[in-house]
Amino acid sequence: MKILVIFYSRTGTTKTVGENIANILKCDSEEIFDTKDRMGVMGYMQAGKDAMLKKLTKLKKIQKTSGLYDLVIIGGPVWGFTVSTPIRTYITENKFKNVAFFCTQGGSGAEKAFSEMERLTGKKPKALLVLRTKEVLDGSYSNKVKNFVKEIK
Ligand SMILES: Cc1cc2nc3c(=O)[nH]c(=O)nc-3n(C[C@H](O)[C@H](O)[C@H](O)COP(=O)(O)O)c2cc1C
Repeated sequence: MKILVIFYSRTGTTKTVGENIANILKCDSEEIFDTKDRMGVMGYMQAGKDAMLKKLTKLKKIQKTSGLYDLVIIGGPVWGFTVSTPIRTYITENKFKNVAFFCTQGGSGAEKAFSEMERLTGKKPKALLVLRTKEVLDGSYSNKVKNFVKEIK
């Protein structure tokens, strides 16, 4: 099965998880980037606002073609209790055969983010993984990733 891991990460947390998943699966991966500057206090505020208003953004050019993969694993941070704007945009602009989702969050909002991702892809995810920022930073997340990968295989 040809698998692609796609992730957006503003501050590196989701990137750690995305790279870990791709390493275990020995599959292709790609980080997506927003053209909009999301850093600093203003960037943070705008990001929260954009997410809650379900806005789209302009992403930097993506190399991998999602439709060529049997499964695309899509991950991003929770923003404003829902899916982040770059991931909303990526899903809206690409096609998928099968999907699985993961996200990182400070505390809550993953369920809403996942249901929005399911609605936008029109696909029932093969597996879901939610991690708290804290457990990614302290390294205690790895068993959850292993279980997620097992579900996919
Ligand atoms: C604009 C913005 C909004 C956020 N909203 C939420 C939220 O609604 N719920 C939550 O648990 N965490 C929220 N967070 C925290 C992030 O989801 C969390 O820190 C995540 O691990 C960051 O991932 P990253 O380092 O890959 O960007 C928010 C962060 C940002 C920047």
